[in-house]
Amino acid sequence: MAVMRAGGFPFLREGVDWWRSAVVYQIYPRSFADSDGDGIGDLPGITSRVWHLAALGVDAVWLSPFYPSALADGGYDVDDHRDVDPRLGTLADFDDMVAALHGAGLRIIADIVPNHTSDRHPWFREALASGRGAPERERYIFRDGRGPGGAEPPNDWQSGFGGPAWEPVGDGQWYFHYFAKEQPDLNWDDPGVREDFRTTLRFWSDRGVDGFRIDVAHGLVKDLSEPFAPWSEVAEVTRADGTHPLWDREGVHEIYADWRRVFDEYDPPRFAVAEAAVHPTRRARYASPEGLGQAFNFQMQEAGFQPDEFRAVIDAGLADMRVSGSTTTWLLGCHDTLRVATRYGLPRDPDLNSHQVGQRWLLTNGAEPVADLALGERRARAAALVLLALPGATYVYQGDELGLHEVPDLPPESLQDPIATRSRGTAKGRDGCRVPLPWTPDGPSFGFGPGGAQPPQPAWFGRYAVSVEADDPDSTLSMYRRALSLRRSLTSEEEFAWVSDPDESVLHFVRPGGWHCVSNFGGAPVELPHGTVAVSSVRLEDGRLPRDATAWVLVED
Ligand code: GLC
Repeated sequence: MAVMRAGGFPFLREGVDWWRSAVVYQIYPRSFADSDGDGIGDLPGITSRVWHLAALGVDAVWLSPFYPSALADGGYDVDDHRDVDPRLGTLADFDDMVAALHGAGLRIIADIVPNHTSDRHPWFREALASGRGAPERERYIFRDGRGPGGAEPPNDWQSGFGGPAWEPVGDGQWYFHYFAKEQPDLNWDDPGVREDFRTTLRFWSDRGVDGFRIDVAHGLVKDLSEPFAPWSEVAEVTRADGTHPLWDREGVHEIYADWRRVFDEYDPPRFAVAEAAVHPTRRARYASPEGLGQAFNFQMQEAGFQPDEFRAVIDAGLADMRVSGSTTTWLLGCHDTLRVATRYGLPRDPDLNSHQVGQRWLLTNGAEPVADLALGERRARAAALVLLALPGATYVYQGDELGLHEVPDLPPESLQDPIATRSRGTAKGRDGCRVPLPWTPDGPSFGFGPGGAQPPQPAWFGRYAVSVEADDPDSTLSMYRRALSLRRSLTSEEEFAWVSDPDESVLHFVRPGGWHCVSNFGGAPVELPHGTVAVSSVRLEDGRLPRDATAWVLVED
């Protein structure tokens, strides 16, 4: 049995390295809990439910954007990076929430959105008002249009949300927006933009924020020099070598080195994790100690529930840790992806990855192919126990601790995601994983708040309510609670070793302290190592682990 050192990190510094093995719970504020009955979740709602996070046993909360916003992209269209949306509360509510989280021993990670602002941000309003060639336009990416009167966009580049990436402003100029047109991209060559974000990082750090999740971290520096290559060519540029005009350019790392100096002004230094959709070989730079410190590894979201796919993603994540000296992140889903319990219930397609299968299924409103929801839920539990046994940090998206499913058939008029509208029917969008959480089995919004819920919850949501699952020892929530409490007591070492061979349908690995994690991906029930079965994703059959299940076994040396 080859034992490998996953992290290469010599020692853990008390109070500083908490993030290396943290379990981080992602809150999407407008669908977590609503205190005032307006149907939008808010910060006092979060404060009132800190008990759930404490009982669950997570170490930290990552809060998706809560800033003033028109919610053109669920809050990732920020009007003011240093305030709270009035519908979500006030800065005083923010302070109360931080105090409640810290009081319960939980850390808080805020989402920073530096690639773009909203089109309601004062900078963008000034840019529009001040006209062609004005210095106020330098904070964004304005270019003259082509053709008579600049009536044509500067080039044919496309938005990631569908449709053109340029929007005209009526005076012959156009601005660049990789995402929705309400999200103009910032120009990071502008020193004022750089200074303002340093101010924002200090603003939240001073208010007690422990770390930051950096949205679109790979996109800030762009090469928009002319002549422009046609989009068909740009779209083909490999992401492996840093030559893409929009993504993962060398210059982004200067920004993060600068931010690192800001993070290190604090004691303990503030933590950061990059949302960087880059080639796996290029993740380590973002995760370096001179940079942000950690980078999301999204590969588990694309893997099917297959032993070879899991093993490959685990090996790649552990290899990342050896290269960067940081820890990798494990996650099954987030606010941008189909819920994992549903994804694992869809039949495989040899030509598509698991994420793509889910996207195609959404276009049928969940009608075709038929999803085996019970199987998906069972597998999601098995997968969660795998992730929680790995060295590194695990991120849990709100509701996944309940085994909640995607809502694939929301009424069309309730869809809010710009992907749904901009893609003209080629994509369904991300609303189905953002439906407000069920807390109780009944009531107008299943305990989400005193009013309604947007997008609306389906009738079957009540089955997954926190209060229902808390009373059921066999529920997904009870399994998560047991696993998280055990994980805390097990190890902070980062060693890992495979016990099973690569071609087996059983995945078996061991961690320090005799902590064995065994998953049966198919076939007959399997024997477990001799020891104490500390937690399992389903009941064992005659002491053996049935298929689509995981168990943790503690074996004495
Ligand atoms: C990130 C966010 C996503 C958002 C996009 C634009 O990918 O996770 O929700 O739409 O950035 O800000």
